[in-house]
Amino acid sequence: MVAIPLGVPKDIDKYFYNREKELVKFKSFIHTLNDNVSNQILLIGFRGVGKSFLLKKLINSLPNNILTAYIDISNIYALEKGNLTEEEIMNRLLNEMNKSIESQKLFKKTYNSVQKLISNIKNHDYNFKEAGTILTIPIPEVKDNCQKLSQFTMEYPQKIVDSSKGKIKGFVIVIDEFQFIGELKSPEAFLWLFRSFTQKQDNVSYIFTGSTSTTSDMVDKLNSIDGAFGNRMIQFNLDPFTEEECKNYLKEKILEIKFDENGFKRFYKCTRGYPAYINSFCNIMSDNIVYTEDMVIEEFYNKLDQIAVKWITLWSSLSKSEKEIITTLIDNGALKWNQLIKKITISQGTITKNLKKLKNKGIISHTNSLYKVEDYMLVSWLKYRKNQDSYYPP
Ligand SMILES: Nc1ncnc2c1ncn2[C@@H]1O[C@H](COP(=O)(O)OP(=O)(O)O)[C@@H](O)[C@H]1O
Ligand SMILES: [Mg+2]
Repeated sequence: MVAIPLGVPKDIDKYFYNREKELVKFKSFIHTLNDNVSNQILLIGFRGVGKSFLLKKLINSLPNNILTAYIDISNIYALEKGNLTEEEIMNRLLNEMNKSIESQKLFKKTYNSVQKLISNIKNHDYNFKEAGTILTIPIPEVKDNCQKLSQFTMEYPQKIVDSSKGKIKGFVIVIDEFQFIGELKSPEAFLWLFRSFTQKQDNVSYIFTGSTSTTSDMVDKLNSIDGAFGNRMIQFNLDPFTEEECKNYLKEKILEIKFDENGFKRFYKCTRGYPAYINSFCNIMSDNIVYTEDMVIEEFYNKLDQIAVKWITLWSSLSKSEKEIITTLIDNGALKWNQLIKKITISQGTITKNLKKLKNKGIISHTNSLYKVEDYMLVSWLKYRKNQDSYYPP
């Protein structure tokens, strides 16, 4: 048996394969921070295609004079049990930004005072005076604590660069699974907040990334002509590995597994080149046989529960209504709104609410007025279970 980590591994270089072109592009857009030009970037791609791993690799390979912070909104959403607030996001962001200066002598005082601020906030004490004076961050004269926190957090990275005496050239901030911002009370206002600050900051680059389709509402809200960034973000789509890349990935990183020619072709078909699927499939394969096409098919369907383990967790985190919408769309294929409501027993209000949630989770897409389940692995596993048990898993 081989053992490849299913999350983003700690030892990035040991497992990371290729993506060289993407890395060159990203680095060149970040390099402009040295000349006080900040680019804002949007990276889109379906779940499991390798966005987070790519960005972690990127962060790791930036020079020391570029600081970085990384937050994953889906994580915050889960920790807050679905009760996502702006304040919690800002809090996490500030935490991560501050971590990046932890080991810098120059910022010892700043680091300590912001740590103190963060722990005060935990105790609902929102006094920004001390921390604010250190970097001369203006704090608005308002009672709204969240507004004070947002202002401070958004100003912080540029202020660090400005006060570094030329030692720090820029700050790169990754907002992963940003589409969960759609779960806030007012997502537009929150995105505009970012925009309004990035406009004034020449040394801070934000990278928004998410498991969603390029046509999703949240991508629109962020970067369409009418969106917060009004098409000014540099937008990328991350594709799965090509057949060639998949072959070389296996050759380079997972030597133990062997295929004959058709066996490999079938393996690629089953995994569609998604590194997440490739890894979880490889994890259940044996290392001392040569897989033929039939063996790959047999292995895939015999062990789909193990291969799809991450998707089973995803499924069990969904509500009953969310599940019903998904299974209806699997049974009927893509549907328009008025077709969908006829097939489902729950109320229209509940459908609207849950469709929005599912879109924000990157599970359902809405293109050309059609709703469709986008996560291929989730669909494969659900169909397989229905086939085996004659009903969908509860
Ligand atoms: N370039 C790569 N080389 C090797 N493994 C990768 C690569 N990209 C992704 N993976 C693996 O695939 C899985 C999913 O990647 P991840 O970055 O979490 O996807 P996403 O963020 O797009 O959902 C992880 O286990 C990761 O280690
Ligand atoms: Mg990810």
